Amino acid sequence: MATSTSVTNRNYDVKDLGLASKGKTRIEWANQWMPVLQLVRKRFLSERPLEGLRLSACLHVTSETANLAVTLRDGGAQVVVCASNPLSTQDDVAASMVEDYQIPVFAIKGEDNPTYYSHIQSALDHKPNMTMDDGADLVTTVLTKRQELIPGIVGGTEETTTGVIRLRSMAKDGVLKFPIVAVNDADTKHLFDNRYGTGQSTLDGIIRATNLLFAGLHVVVSGYGWCGRGVASRARGLGADVIITEVDPTRALEAVMDGFRVMPMAEAAKLGEVFITVTGDKSILRAEHFQAMKDGAVICNSGHFNVEIDIPALESMSLGKRQTRESVDEYTLRDGRKLYLLGEGRLVNLAAAEGHPAVVMDMSFANQALCAEYMAKNAKTLEPKVHTVPKDIDQAVARLKLESMGVAIDHLTVEQEHYLASWSEGT
Ligand SMILES: NC(=O)c1ccc[n+]([C@@H]2O[C@H](COP(=O)([O-])OP(=O)(O)OC[C@H]3O[C@@H](n4cnc5c(N)ncnc54)[C@H](O)[C@@H]3O)[C@@H](O)[C@H]2O)c1
Repeated sequence: MATSTSVTNRNYDVKDLGLASKGKTRIEWANQWMPVLQLVRKRFLSERPLEGLRLSACLHVTSETANLAVTLRDGGAQVVVCASNPLSTQDDVAASMVEDYQIPVFAIKGEDNPTYYSHIQSALDHKPNMTMDDGADLVTTVLTKRQELIPGIVGGTEETTTGVIRLRSMAKDGVLKFPIVAVNDADTKHLFDNRYGTGQSTLDGIIRATNLLFAGLHVVVSGYGWCGRGVASRARGLGADVIITEVDPTRALEAVMDGFRVMPMAEAAKLGEVFITVTGDKSILRAEHFQAMKDGAVICNSGHFNVEIDIPALESMSLGKRQTRESVDEYTLRDGRKLYLLGEGRLVNLAAAEGHPAVVMDMSFANQALCAEYMAKNAKTLEPKVHTVPKDIDQAVARLKLESMGVAIDHLTVEQEHYLASWSEGT
């Protein structure tokens, strides 16, 4: 909710500019762990590939995002940023972006839904030539409510799985009017950000919110995709007994062969002490599951939208609700059992912790910056659909990350190149 302490004018809306100095040190801390983005920024400063572009970004407003926004600004873009989730904003970082980096931000942690959408509208008042989304709320708003902006937009980028799914479905229905690059689908994004970033930070959020000991816990993870396998392996690493629920037979089989128990939620609901949804789907945990859960079960979500847990059903089954710790709501059911919902069912790693570590966002956001450059050069030649990240960008990010870690690898010899390229070899 926008509070009376928020500072509002035409150019930004953040909670409190007085938080800027704390935000600045966090932004600087994150920057140290983002060497690939630093290299991109250095080149952008001299080459200015985004000169004159107006760019609206709807991203989680975190210290890593601040470094991306500064990189885009140094590339010549006029950048404005709004939140891609009402609970993920770091208010001190938002303040510093405005105060220290002169980047307009529209985001306040805990803003209500009308404020969240009004902030998206404010970011669009910037009349962007390029969009940068995390969940496709910006593009959806352009296509449904701000169609007058379409002729001025050359293209955009998308950060997450759920956004890519939404955009592909827009393209299929013929409503997407400009090209988008699916940054999520780069190998150097989802193999690392979704798996290791979500894996670690989801547990970080649960631990910060509850101070639970994972060793010996029965943890149910729904969805064995890129995020789910990261969450499951990290929970197992802490000593939890992890159960997977899935709908895709191949992914379920993979979970079995990775050594996890796999079963339907109807069975898992009775066994779990902690439930983590990370499917990108809706109503994974619903009334019949709440009915079966143990007293004291902890429920949370790390998928993009807060629809994976049927919160209206939980509310209607409960006699009362109270906040017992920061980010923890206790629901008392009619039979006296208590269930604990974390972060209002929103991305728990951002609502109750700081989101992904900078080290992993380095790769995701280097991809974002390089894809913005790619779009600035090529968007006019691209069809209005969802495009993959060019392989050379993906590989360059991997190469630079390895270099920054001091890791060298082998190179193909001429003989090996020939062998791999020739169908007649090996016979
Ligand atoms: N928390 C974060 O910071 C963060 C980071 C990246 C992605 N995400 C979001 O996390 C979600 C998952 O992303 P991903 O990259 O792992 O996607 P993915 O497509 O790789 O995996 C999702 C998995 O969920 C399974 N699934 C779908 N419906 C299900 C159901 N009813 N029950 C059980 N399993 C079901 C699918 O079969 C699939 O295996 C998306 O919403 C994505 O946007 C969150």
